[in-house]
Amino acid sequence: MKSIWAVVPAAGSGRRLGGEIPKQYREIAGAPLMEHTLQALLASPDVRGIVVALDPSDRRADAINSLADVRVQTVAGGAERAHSVLAGLDLLAEDASDEDWVLVHDAARPCLPLKSLTALIDCARAEGEGAILAAPVSDTLKQVDDSAKVTRTVDRSVLWRAQTPQLFPLIKLRRALRQCLEEIGDVTDEAMAMEWAGETVHVVEGPPSNIKVTVEADLAYVDMMLRAEREPLT
Ligand code: C5P
Repeated sequence: MKSIWAVVPAAGSGRRLGGEIPKQYREIAGAPLMEHTLQALLASPDVRGIVVALDPSDRRADAINSLADVRVQTVAGGAERAHSVLAGLDLLAEDASDEDWVLVHDAARPCLPLKSLTALIDCARAEGEGAILAAPVSDTLKQVDDSAKVTRTVDRSVLWRAQTPQLFPLIKLRRALRQCLEEIGDVTDEAMAMEWAGETVHVVEGPPSNIKVTVEADLAYVDMMLRAEREPLT
């Protein structure tokens, strides 16, 4: 592992959350949501640089101070999250070495503790293989049929919820993501592409607070978590 880069997909429109402002620009704990996410990555001395995939038609990015950091570049995002990630990987691949790694982290996950990021990097370094943050499932899980009737209880002991960051060798991830997109189409995270390519993916337990902001109530939750954990950004 020579250098570690980051790609942050931030080109979504936030359809599920609704409202006029995409979720990555909503104000939480004194700053736009994406500002917290970028600062969490910039806090790590292991992260050499970050590519943020943005919707090129969106002028709101001008107000994100971290985008002016010397370690941060931007690229135009794509139609789906995986296309935005691929655009970031393509930009990095222009200058990266064959031994470089990349971590992909959703802009919509602002509560990433440095210790979790470091644990992820330590695991990938120790194993020499990809790793993701994930959380074990704590609820009892039900499989249901088309008429919303329970058909069985699923064994939760083998199930984890994938989070980001997800850390992989840059060249391998770029190749796997591109091929998986061509053959399957719907790729919801990087680990899925690497699994599809036959690569091993390790899980490192991430904190429950590392949620992807999806619905309005999530905004109040991450606001509370960030205010509790850090001084508000100015
Ligand atoms: O929509 P979802 O919550 O799955 O998006 C996860 C992340 O991917 C968000 O940070 C969003 O901005 C980003 N995204 C993107 N390009 C898209 C769609 C989503 O960069 N076309």
